[in-house]
Amino acid sequence: MSTTTFQNNAVVLETENLGITFGGLKAVQSVNLTIKEGMIYGIIGPNGAGKTTIFNLLTGVYQPTTGDFRLLGKSLKGMKQEAINHAGIARTFQNIRLFNNMSVIRNVLVGLHNQPEFKCTALESMLRTPHYFANEAAMRTRAKELLRLFDLEDERNNLACNLPYGKQRKLEIARALATNPKLLLLDEPAAGMNPAETEELMNTIQFIRDTFHITVLLIEHDMRFVTGLCDEVTVLNFGTTLAQGTCEEVLRNPDVIKAYIGNDD
Ligand SMILES: Nc1ncnc2c1ncn2[C@@H]1O[C@H](COP(=O)(O)OP(=O)(O)OP(=O)(O)O)[C@@H](O)[C@H]1O
Ligand SMILES: [Mg+2]
Repeated sequence: MSTTTFQNNAVVLETENLGITFGGLKAVQSVNLTIKEGMIYGIIGPNGAGKTTIFNLLTGVYQPTTGDFRLLGKSLKGMKQEAINHAGIARTFQNIRLFNNMSVIRNVLVGLHNQPEFKCTALESMLRTPHYFANEAAMRTRAKELLRLFDLEDERNNLACNLPYGKQRKLEIARALATNPKLLLLDEPAAGMNPAETEELMNTIQFIRDTFHITVLLIEHDMRFVTGLCDEVTVLNFGTTLAQGTCEEVLRNPDVIKAYIGNDD
């Protein structure tokens, strides 16, 4: 388990009775999460439990039918995807979404372009002013630093689509980090990775949390990954919360055992 202590015990994400209904299907019902600064928090549960739908609610892909969610005390309900990203929530996707025909470094630069510190006016860009060139150079330096974190610097000029699967997953995290989030949402980050890549990813996520003080909310089926990394977890089943607590607590909860392996055991 992770052990970093953060000075500030602020609640980064709070969801209150968060829910959404699709037609007659209650995909997510009354989910209450309280995630403090510096936590690595897990959402687990069987297929179709509503895990990805929660991410879609938290990033403005879907609007909640019920409840609210707050980032550092401010409600983001009703905001559009880009505004939520600006407010400080970045994500990766269960099915990797990269700009496949762009280079690796360009994928990261796209994330950096939205950052206030790298903003150029349209006129500066058009006239190619010294500020524009300094800005471009600073962005490339930052992009390379992020790629180095994930051991992707040597791949920077390759097309994203030519990277092997594990590296594409890492690139997606690097691009999300480029938007300078307070909360990073990772949807099955270890899916398709081999054991060595998974181990390395666990170390990298801890490093990101410790170095950038980013709070992480992740969805994962790999229980070794979850128990090795998460401070607390929520178990979902059929859109509802089955259990919440430390990994040890929830994994000995009879309802959780039943949901995962059926009634007979
Ligand atoms: N846009 C949508 N329209 C209708 N139903 C949806 C929609 N999005 C999700 N659902 C349904 O909501 C439920 C939860 O889906 P979700 O993708 O959140 O599950 P999950 O826990 O992420 O599962 P998995 O582990 O397989 O990724 C499923 O029954 C799914 O079919
Ligand atoms: Mg999912």
